[in-house]
Amino acid sequence: MTLPLFVAVDGPAGSGKSSVSRTVARRLRFAYLDTGAAYRALAWLVLESGIDSRDAAAVITALADFDFEVGTHPDEYYVRIGGSDVTEAIREPRVSAVVSDIARIPEVRQYLVELFRSIAAASDRPGIVVEGRDITTVVAPGAPVRILLTASEEARMARRSAELQDHAAETVGELLKKRDQADSRVVDFMNAADGVTTVDSTEFDFDETVDAVIDVIRATTNAG
Ligand code: CDP
Ligand code: CDP
Repeated sequence: MTLPLFVAVDGPAGSGKSSVSRTVARRLRFAYLDTGAAYRALAWLVLESGIDSRDAAAVITALADFDFEVGTHPDEYYVRIGGSDVTEAIREPRVSAVVSDIARIPEVRQYLVELFRSIAAASDRPGIVVEGRDITTVVAPGAPVRILLTASEEARMARRSAELQDHAAETVGELLKKRDQADSRVVDFMNAADGVTTVDSTEFDFDETVDAVIDVIRATTNAG
């Protein structure tokens, strides 16, 4: 059995990773893996269990009960824990507020990196777009296609604020900045590693960004 073509996409919050990767996958008939959903789902479980997200030992214990499922078909996206749907719940601000605490625990990262590799290898589609923060550098440094999707801080905040109209733009911006700062202490997703192609979407609308990512995939696969 041939392994699916691995397309690794990293970038900061609001760069368009999830929405662009999902649309790219749909257009190429690839699978799509949202790795941030796993970190968010574990953070949700930690909150539900009354565990302090800064208590690394307790968070590691919660991994034993982490019965996580994620939809990898771009048209059937869902996130479940223990069979219950948490697709919407893991986007709540209370989850965003603690997710960086659990994402900096090395044992959590090791566990999830292995999980992502096995989900990607098991895909029955010709390719899989895997998006997150450390996909191009840690999860799949040898992937044939590796992309860093960026956008100016201003553009990223404007996009996120447009999504969450009930929150003040400043609050969204500040929270996003805080999370990116905490996350970038653990992995560098602001600078492209060697061999990683940067797609800067600051001046692109959504469709242009999708086209730019597909162009990189086609250029790489045609070349090799
Ligand atoms: O979509 P958004 O940019 O808000 O974030 P996400 O992709 O849902 O990721 C949520 C959090 O998970 C991030 O803030 C990181 O703390 C963590 N994460 C990570 O550490 N490594 C990844 N590969 C993906 C997410
Ligand atoms: O996953 P990540 O946090 O990187 O970003 P996202 O949630 O996929 O994208 C944030 C928002 O930006 C979404 O509403 C996208 O539709 C929008 N977007 C945009 O307006 N223009 C682009 N070039 C890319 C994304």
